[in-house]
Amino acid sequence: MTLNIHAQNIDVRFLGNNYAAVKVGATNLPYLMLPIEESAPEAKINVLLNGKIDRQINVRLAQNKVDYLVPFQLKAYKGHPIVLDVETYNDRSGMRDIKNDLCWRTLKLSDKFSTENTEKYRPAYHHTPLYGWMNDPNGMFYHNGRWHLYYQWNPYASLWANMTWGHSSSTDLIHWTHHDDAIQGDGLGAIFSGSAVVDKNNTAGFGKDAAIAIYTSASATQKQSLAYSTDEGMTFTKFDGNPIISDEKECRDPNFFWNEQTHKWNLVLANSLGHQDWFFESTDLKTWTKTGEFGEGYGAQEGVWECPDLMELPVIGTKEKKWVLIVNINPGGKFGGSATQYFTGDFDGKVFRCDTPKPVTKWMDFGKDHYATVSWSNAPEGRHTVIAWMSNWQYANIVPTKQYRSANSLPRDLKLYKAEDGNYYLHTEPSPEVLSLRGAKTSLGSMKRGEKRLPAHAEGLYEINLTAKGSHNSKLDITLKNDHGDQVVLTYDFSLHTFAMDRTKSGIVDFSSDFPCTTVAPTSHSLTQNLRLFIDRSSIEAFDGEGRWVMTNLVFPNAPYNIISVNKRGDASVQKLTVYNIKK
Ligand code: FRU
Repeated sequence: MTLNIHAQNIDVRFLGNNYAAVKVGATNLPYLMLPIEESAPEAKINVLLNGKIDRQINVRLAQNKVDYLVPFQLKAYKGHPIVLDVETYNDRSGMRDIKNDLCWRTLKLSDKFSTENTEKYRPAYHHTPLYGWMNDPNGMFYHNGRWHLYYQWNPYASLWANMTWGHSSSTDLIHWTHHDDAIQGDGLGAIFSGSAVVDKNNTAGFGKDAAIAIYTSASATQKQSLAYSTDEGMTFTKFDGNPIISDEKECRDPNFFWNEQTHKWNLVLANSLGHQDWFFESTDLKTWTKTGEFGEGYGAQEGVWECPDLMELPVIGTKEKKWVLIVNINPGGKFGGSATQYFTGDFDGKVFRCDTPKPVTKWMDFGKDHYATVSWSNAPEGRHTVIAWMSNWQYANIVPTKQYRSANSLPRDLKLYKAEDGNYYLHTEPSPEVLSLRGAKTSLGSMKRGEKRLPAHAEGLYEINLTAKGSHNSKLDITLKNDHGDQVVLTYDFSLHTFAMDRTKSGIVDFSSDFPCTTVAPTSHSLTQNLRLFIDRSSIEAFDGEGRWVMTNLVFPNAPYNIISVNKRGDASVQKLTVYNIKK
């Protein structure tokens, strides 16, 4: 049976219960719009050009309702017919008649696809993909005044699948320009996470200053592949000797850098199920030799180890430097699900040695929505600037947005400090570029009890600075509220030396039982605590003024928080309360 759809050059033939062939005639129109139903199973689509498979994608084609349309790009096929060979469900027990599925009647060719924002919760000053799903930041490098940010992207739904490297860039780390996707899946698999460098000395032979990316090619196995760019990261060509590293173990997320001390490249790879990181060295970026392993029994071990990063950081107030190994884990984070832990120690170019006993776990962020944190390569002035995926695998696929899913954290600059206990910890500050977001300033003075309205017309977008003053055994609650009764309670406990964020009543929380929670960070023992809060449409990032801890949590308020209220037990107060509207 053949269906002719919209007389638009699209023929659908049903070849059996679970199979259809969609013929798209030669067209100059740039998009074939695919109707998506998020709860439908993934259909496996082979895109055939001249009868050969050109691409394979998995798409939740609508059966009963269309949640949204996503574009399949036809640019590359201009003037050539293609066939989508669609297997709607590859499980015999799921055999069904697909002829009446909505997708066949809602597929259409189009000359436009609007990416105008349709989402109430889309952040105003955090990076998001224009549409579709995003997870880990990847391959970030800085070159010629531009910060490049690639990311795990699914262009065919706002749910995880079809991993591709999406691409955005910025000259100020705040305002992002979206580019075409940079690396797409191939016969070796989907393009999972990885990193990139600027090859200043042409060690790989792809040209001076070529951007070299190494990423995981993921299919039934995971192996590491290389791609290079000679147009400043806009397009990448895959190396014809791929894969460059393979092992029978599930290893992924290669992160590599030039080691000034050994004059070699080093690469860290997560042996994910083994809860270890493996170290490699190379002189030409193509041939890698394994030099060591780290991790057995160290830190948080419950989940898989993913997205490592290794860097040498200065210790504030000293001439000392220490190595930091970042290890993202999922699940097993401090508050459940995904989180970023790190180890401090030494790295001799071969293996990392941790300076704390095995059970010690250090967390980079004390919220629930901070994962896959990695740094920019080649950042100016020796900076170590990182960005995280601001979500959690526990519920990232079901947060209440549709046009896109997931944002990045604000960029942060890392150093180390030596604490009273003699150990080294990360010192985290919002990157200085974030200051440029400060708009109108409102000073609200001090508060012991009661509430104040936050400046109107700010659409709930604020940086709030304050000093919390306590006495022994006092507690201070600082609550962000709106007129719908949604609230987020921030509590300094001056006897436990903690800061907590309670989002159990923050707005929409019922999409996952893992979402409502209170996260807690240890503070210094000082009775004066400074706080910098960044509030966007669906996130709150709390930075300790002394850089000792950060807490990143998503929130989905029914309306922007527009009231701040203070309550206390014992003698405590909020002082120097300052609110900056955000300049977009
Ligand atoms: C981390 C991760 C990585 C992997 C990528 C796949 O969130 O699981 O280990 O490369 O996501 O999208």
